[in-house]
Amino acid sequence: MVNYRGFSSHSKNSSIYFRRYSSPLSITYYIVILFALSIFIFTFYSKDILEDEDRKPPSITSGEKNSKIEQLHDDVLWEAPFSHGLHPCVKPSSRYKATQGWDRYMTVRSNGGLNQMRAGIADMVAVAHIMNATLVIPQLDKRSFWQDTSIFSDIFDEVHFIMTLQTDVRIVKELPKELESASRARKHFSSWSGVSYYEEMADLWKDYQVIHVAKSDSRLANNDLPFDIQRLRCRALYHALRFSPAIENLGKKLLERLRSRAERYIALHLRYEKDMLSFTGCTHGLTETEAEELRVMRINTNHWKIKNINATEQRIGGLCPLTPKEVGIFLQALGYPPSTLIYIAAGEIYGGSVHLSELTSRFPNIVFKEALASKGELQAFSHHASQSAALDYIISIESDVFIPSHSGNMARAVEGHRRFLGHRKTITPDRKGLVAIYDMLESGVLKDGSSSLSHLVMKLHRSRQGAPRKREGAPSGIKGRGRFRLEEPFYQNPFPECICGSNIQDDEDT
Ligand SMILES: *[C@@H]1O[C@H](CO)[C@@H](O)[C@H](O)[C@H]1NC(C)=O
Ligand SMILES: *[C@@H]1O[C@H](CO)[C@@H](O)[C@H](O)[C@H]1NC(C)=O
Repeated sequence: MVNYRGFSSHSKNSSIYFRRYSSPLSITYYIVILFALSIFIFTFYSKDILEDEDRKPPSITSGEKNSKIEQLHDDVLWEAPFSHGLHPCVKPSSRYKATQGWDRYMTVRSNGGLNQMRAGIADMVAVAHIMNATLVIPQLDKRSFWQDTSIFSDIFDEVHFIMTLQTDVRIVKELPKELESASRARKHFSSWSGVSYYEEMADLWKDYQVIHVAKSDSRLANNDLPFDIQRLRCRALYHALRFSPAIENLGKKLLERLRSRAERYIALHLRYEKDMLSFTGCTHGLTETEAEELRVMRINTNHWKIKNINATEQRIGGLCPLTPKEVGIFLQALGYPPSTLIYIAAGEIYGGSVHLSELTSRFPNIVFKEALASKGELQAFSHHASQSAALDYIISIESDVFIPSHSGNMARAVEGHRRFLGHRKTITPDRKGLVAIYDMLESGVLKDGSSSLSHLVMKLHRSRQGAPRKREGAPSGIKGRGRFRLEEPFYQNPFPECICGSNIQDDEDT
């Protein structure tokens, strides 16, 4: 270090310096040192590779080297993917203008669970802007599987929502009294529509003062929309749709309690709930009685179109949520130690502790919100699935690592929000690939806890950790409207519109 500095900053002396050490003896001396150094580097790194392969705690030798290896290992497990200079950006362009259609009103019935409704509401803000309408605070879904009687202001901060978007669209709490009895256009807008569709729909204003939107999910295209509309969607979802103070406050408390238990935690969206298993027809690891119960539920649920499902084919196709046992094997293979704190962001786990024990046997440090909050604190949330899901959402966004066991609205929403906030680590299991690996475990080709298992799982997930990338379009070759369904959803990855590099000018300051 000292020699190097002397060499570069006193360049006048450098020739003397060099001559002094350039005798044949010193050259040999250099070669020996170089050789020794390369051996040191080689052992250091091969040890790291061994670490990777064997998953044994670092053994032997000097404490400093050990802590270095532990640090490397820790980084792999917990550090966010590299996203140099990228940051959220939601400011509109200079051409952008608020719309103030003060005498035309849009009422909306949001459908679906919490995350489907959130995305739908953000889209309706954009639609109201395109159509120059005043948006009436949306009604929430009370009929879905989640059976929740909450109204908008139970879940969201209504005043904040209205104020945050006041330079975008006019939003009111209720339809004016004199318009309540006015005839209104009841519309089922086409899925994944673009701006021109909604501009055409604006013709309805010639005949109506109120348009009622019957469904809010997936009404707006993911791609090929004006830049300012995409930015507006991000402002609506990530800034305006804040949860109600009651939910935010309890969410903060639960986060503090989690952090007091461990420095870092994984939020696991363990989508191993009855409705999901029944809907997907996945029965792997279940008893015959359980499988039958789920089949009967599927037959009796009218709006689920597909009744006959081959569970084996579903699983091989990667269409099943990971079972608690499979999640346990997965986390262990990735190298997370048994002491890892894991928050379960989910409703009721199917089969309760019987199935859950296959995960807790490997990771005993598992907590549900019921263990973090008192009965009194949770009382207001029971029987309100959407409010309870909002708590899970907050804890999932703030976690060091987020892992969904299945794809779905919550998994997509959380992934997108984490990307937006700075590409926080999100590990998306390759379920199809994992099933192939698990089958090798079951047939005895691979051994549980082995380094080859670990190696395979890590390799499969090296590029599935939430690193920055642009939103994906539909697979090539798919034409027509069918491709919209296959595009990566806007809110799963708002890059590039709402995530900018350091060279972009019109970004926000926060
Ligand atoms: C929006 O609606 C208002 C009336 O509510 C109207 O005065 C204004 O011209 C409209 N703007 C556009 C761009 O159509
Ligand atoms: C389900 O699919 C698997 C694999 O294709 C097949 O072997 C099995 O016979 C099917 N089961 C039923 C009940 O059709």
